[in-house]
Amino acid sequence: MSNMLAGLLEWVDARFPLSKMWKEHLSEYYAPKNFNFWYFFGSLALLVLVLQIVTGILLTMNYKPDATLAFASVEYIMRDVNWGWLIRYMHSTGASAFFVIVYLHMYRGLMYGSFKKPRELIWIFGMLIYLALMAEAFFGYLLPWGQMSYWGAQVIVNLFSAIPFGIGEPLSQWIRGDYVVSDATLNRFFAFHVIALPFVLAGLVVAHIIALHEVGSNNPDGVEIKKNKGPDGKPLDGIPFHPYYTVKDIVGVVVFLMFFFGIIFFGPEMGGYFLEHANFIPADPLKTPLHIAPVWYFTPFYAMLRAVPPLFDSQFPGVVVMGAAVVILFFLPWIDRSPVKSIRYRGASYKLSLAVFIVSFLILGWLGTQPVTVIKTDMARIFTALYFAFFVALWFLPKFEKTKPVPERVTTK
Ligand code: HEM
Repeated sequence: MSNMLAGLLEWVDARFPLSKMWKEHLSEYYAPKNFNFWYFFGSLALLVLVLQIVTGILLTMNYKPDATLAFASVEYIMRDVNWGWLIRYMHSTGASAFFVIVYLHMYRGLMYGSFKKPRELIWIFGMLIYLALMAEAFFGYLLPWGQMSYWGAQVIVNLFSAIPFGIGEPLSQWIRGDYVVSDATLNRFFAFHVIALPFVLAGLVVAHIIALHEVGSNNPDGVEIKKNKGPDGKPLDGIPFHPYYTVKDIVGVVVFLMFFFGIIFFGPEMGGYFLEHANFIPADPLKTPLHIAPVWYFTPFYAMLRAVPPLFDSQFPGVVVMGAAVVILFFLPWIDRSPVKSIRYRGASYKLSLAVFIVSFLILGWLGTQPVTVIKTDMARIFTALYFAFFVALWFLPKFEKTKPVPERVTTK
């Protein structure tokens, strides 16, 4: 049997670089030996991507992308399709889980300076993934055709109308395919959600990992392990990804699945944060809900949008600030001028700036779920300013930052 398998592998290898790829990306990919739990989130993001694609395919088998049938088809999946409720809740919880994981994954990058040279492209591919993920989630949210699906899409597409010089209105009509969100919009969002963006996402993830394996992983010490190689040419502080990290990552997967299925079985709506209450009411184009808020992963940006006062009755400045909040992250590798990567060896100024940035983002996230009041708008303005102050600090503070000496080799405490 094993002879047969070896023969088969030889046959394949003569025609396709299977063993070569296995070695290059797993059994002979040397990863730093000091990875901590923050390094679980990359593989978890991969897992959730696969889960979303599989559950998405199953949902598509019973979902109807038609404005008169969509809402009922989702209810049909929930009540009548065998295991339909599980598939749907896995997909809706998976969307939020994806963002939790990606936000933690990005935060790890900020802590350990993983966006810095030579990993700028890994970061840029990551940011493109983040953009594609936001688009994917936005398109998907229209599909159940509930009140929040409908009005959320209406609000977001209307943002394009704010673009001046006569571009905005025709552009938003072109996106919708109609004067308001309608059946035509549902159909095209369906096409983007099930085909176009999953392809883009998968392609970007492959590029992200190819870029990572080209330069090698960073680690919690921010030490380049390729600088210290043994006589065999292998990094002294590296261990083969397989079996060491494939096995370690299973721990992350098990813990993640415990939380994931805990939510699915005991609180799939997460108090209205994962599935908003208003979305259990069918879309009604004649009845605007009193309070429209996007799902939690968009609310920090939504809070920024609302924080900026309109100019000549136009929301355009808010749209620009919201867009800038995302776009500025692309430039992080060049904005942060400190030569030290890891937070372990950076000065108090970086630690404080990062803490203020994260707290501001979280508070903005909460503010974005709240109805507008004068105080909350003032708060949103302050925290929007603090969000952007982070980048100013990264540019100016490294000059005065008191960093600690970075060790030659990774530390394993
Ligand atoms: C579908 C979403 C994503 C997937 C599947 C994914 C996958 C991965 C994997 C498997 C790794 C290697 C393991 C690890 O370091 O945790 C990695 C590393 C990395 N990712 Fe992602 N990623 C995603 C999104 C992002 C985003 C949105 C960003 C940032 C904008 C990002 C930035 C990085 C960086 C900087 C590294 C290198 C980390 C280091 O070596 O310290 N990724 N990613």
